[in-house]
Amino acid sequence: MNKVLKSLRSISIISIAFFLLPMYIHGQTPVYLDEANPINERIEDALKRMTLNEKIAICHAQSKFSTPGCPRLGIPEIWMSDGPHGIRYEFQWDSWLHADWTNDSCTVYPALSCLAATFNPALSLQYGNAIGEEARYRKKDIILGPGVNIYRSPLNGRNSEYFGEDPFLTSKMVVPYIQGVQKNGVAACIKHFALNNQEKLREAINVEASDRALHEIYLPAFEAGVVEGKVWAVMGSYNKFRGQFCSHNNLLVNKILKGDWNFDGVFITDWGSAHNTDEAARNGLDIEMGSWTNGMTWGLSSAYNNYYLAQPFLKKIKNGELPETLLDEKVRRILLLNFRTNMNRNRPYGKKLTCEQKALALKVAEEGIVLLKNEKNFFPIEKGRYTKIAIIGENAIKRLTQGGGSSELKPQEEILSLQGMIEKYGKDHVTFSLGYASGEPNYSNELPSPYNADSLVAAAVETAKKADVVIFFGGLNKNFQQDCECDDRKNMDLPFGQNELIAKLLQVNKNLGVVIVSGNAVSMPWINKINGLIQSWYLGSQGGTATANIISGDAVPSGKLPFTIPKKLEDNGANSFGAVAYPGDGTNVIYKEDILVGYRWFDTKKIEPLFPFGYGLSYTTFEYGKAKSDKYVYEQDETAKITFRLTNKGKIDGSEIVQLYISQKNPKLLRPAKELKGFTKVFLKAGEIKDVELTVKITDLAYYDDQLRKWITDADEYELSLASSSRNIRSCVKIHVNR
Ligand code: BGC
Repeated sequence: MNKVLKSLRSISIISIAFFLLPMYIHGQTPVYLDEANPINERIEDALKRMTLNEKIAICHAQSKFSTPGCPRLGIPEIWMSDGPHGIRYEFQWDSWLHADWTNDSCTVYPALSCLAATFNPALSLQYGNAIGEEARYRKKDIILGPGVNIYRSPLNGRNSEYFGEDPFLTSKMVVPYIQGVQKNGVAACIKHFALNNQEKLREAINVEASDRALHEIYLPAFEAGVVEGKVWAVMGSYNKFRGQFCSHNNLLVNKILKGDWNFDGVFITDWGSAHNTDEAARNGLDIEMGSWTNGMTWGLSSAYNNYYLAQPFLKKIKNGELPETLLDEKVRRILLLNFRTNMNRNRPYGKKLTCEQKALALKVAEEGIVLLKNEKNFFPIEKGRYTKIAIIGENAIKRLTQGGGSSELKPQEEILSLQGMIEKYGKDHVTFSLGYASGEPNYSNELPSPYNADSLVAAAVETAKKADVVIFFGGLNKNFQQDCECDDRKNMDLPFGQNELIAKLLQVNKNLGVVIVSGNAVSMPWINKINGLIQSWYLGSQGGTATANIISGDAVPSGKLPFTIPKKLEDNGANSFGAVAYPGDGTNVIYKEDILVGYRWFDTKKIEPLFPFGYGLSYTTFEYGKAKSDKYVYEQDETAKITFRLTNKGKIDGSEIVQLYISQKNPKLLRPAKELKGFTKVFLKAGEIKDVELTVKITDLAYYDDQLRKWITDADEYELSLASSSRNIRSCVKIHVNR
């Protein structure tokens, strides 16, 4: 045995020597390995050393989450992982089965809808950095996130993975996230480019949207990620746009992403989203990744060699149908990615599961939780206020890091809400009843609950009767069609009989508050009957502690809604036009609400939401002074400074998210009643007063003129409104812009 090992070792040493050593003789490091050389020269040098087969190989997957690199030249494999709120567990090489490693658990951070609700870009930088650290430690080169698709309908199964309905908020949050990840020598990969705003029929549906909707609503966050965030990778989406699949869409990829925005990174498919070799070759796709590719149980037709960018591409190059220059362009980008990540000898080593990361997960969760209703000072429930607190509802004990599809994670620790509440109030003061139950999470099916629903209700009612206060923990749960990839929710209602249960609980105990855990708006038929309401999220590892901290007042709520909660589904723009606009007719989905997405629709059409975008209460109150601008008339290249005085009028410290919306007085084209163009989060001690400044670039007042095909700021009067939500304007100032 020893002999065999020895001879194997000497064979490999000989082969390394044979291939690599000639490059080093005479003291010469090959150009591509010498960091003193300019990056372009290194890329060209590596490129010209690679054979046609080697170049083809790095443009497509070799396993579920890796591409092969070029072993002969020592160019490493590229390893990827989901994303976006933790580093996913390991998979078997060639299937979607878990590899069952024991060292692949992670810190689970709150989902991006929670990060968005913090309105805190500095926190997003820390979040991105923590994700980057863990990805690096786990030897990942690309993290498949963040998702920056816009929340268009509350039914979309993946809204929890995105930053909400507003392109400005999403852009401001995504840039620091990318910078945080990439400073670890790990690429962020913003996804899904573009117009992937529903899961239903996502692999086939063709999106039709106007140029204005594209530029004003659906592209800004991607553009910010590329131009400001300098992201190293972008993932295409499954759907089509204007008749062509987005993962090889000439307009989106060649013209906009790589042309207008000068993106120099790699453009990757979503898993299995390529459909055609010629388009993939010509329309900017660099790496093809996929699904169902083991080549054994799923047949040769989908094995890696048969990928569109594998043998079919090679064949077309060999027979002259496609020029090799197309391949070289892809390889250059992939090599640049190698130099930025796994061939960067100076990148840090990363870390995982540290106390700082845990503390960050807690902080994001606390800052993102949104207090929506607080009658009779229902919250905070200070320790000692009640003897018996009844916790009812499955989401108090459900592991919400599971399910959902590719965003599922394996947490090293997951503090559930019930546990957080018991730790806070003591087990003698907390009783629990399940109330309702769902089955295990499953990607493509609803599995039945093992419990009898009526008995659960009866037991919960008994528990509620005996309690001084009831807190119901419900919402969605990342099960199939409940905030899960691959399909959407069927309607806005709470599932598993929760509405009926809440009604029954209210009959026996009126002192009731609700905590909704979801990444989407839910309908709330009981809203006028409950005393307190918290919008919570998939909060990750420290969720239970964060929730108990907010409920008890040990942390003061400061989150604001990153999307509108409508009174009913049909009030929402995309859902108001019937099936043609959502989810489409099976072939096309037409974005009929155009640029009026989210609060832009509600405000312009004067529809009262249940809770508006940007809304969230605190345990203290803030008084806004009068807004002033630094002058009245501005030129196009200037920045307006808006100042005002903010006072914490209450008895406790707290943070306020101040929002700045703009409205144009006489627009030539339709413009939304208001658009978010600034925000800041201000911490004030009880009674403290601060002078606050927000700035708006005059160019940010622009709209996209689809005739001229560019952004225009009209000479006109504009109203700049300081607001505590999109529906609560506290003070306005008018300015004039010259041509
Ligand atoms: C998802 C992507 C994910 C990929 C790899 C796809 O189904 O849409 O967001 O990154 O799988 O897991």
